[in-house]
Amino acid sequence: MKYRVLHYGEEPLRENSEPITEITDDIRRLVADMFETMNEAKGVGLAAPQVGVNIRLAIIDIGDDPLVLINPRILKSSGKETCEEGCLSLPGLTEKVERAKKVVCEATDLDGSLYELEAEGLLARAVQHELDHLDGVLFIDRISKARKLQIKHELEMIKNGESLYEDDENEEEAPF
Ligand code: NI
Repeated sequence: MKYRVLHYGEEPLRENSEPITEITDDIRRLVADMFETMNEAKGVGLAAPQVGVNIRLAIIDIGDDPLVLINPRILKSSGKETCEEGCLSLPGLTEKVERAKKVVCEATDLDGSLYELEAEGLLARAVQHELDHLDGVLFIDRISKARKLQIKHELEMIKNGESLYEDDENEEEAPF
């Protein structure tokens, strides 16, 4: 079942999500549905709060290896990198965001095994972006106040459910 992806302005995106204590059939079904939703939206990452479920779960697939991150946490981060970033919950908007260049992340997979993930580049960015979602943080919280004021109109449009897309430009993006 494909979910509707919540957009900026909807409350669950701003909530702090709860840890997962047991991997149930409901969780497994949710993960399958999240992959369907993300692939349909041509995203490379999706966090459970984006489909209205406030639990600490995210999925990432930058093209080679689909990852399930249950109760993820960042153990180590290093370097800095500024890149254009988008989000399925802010359709049509991209902004330059500074993040750590490399991260080491610990998470549990669907089988309940704890694993460590060393990530850099797009994968490191996706991990940091999705973990932010679990804390109610959006990438627009990581841009300057001045820039946020400049895009006030676009943010209002997204809040009102209006599209920022022109033609098919979204096809080129890989939002999280
Ligand atoms: Ni996002």
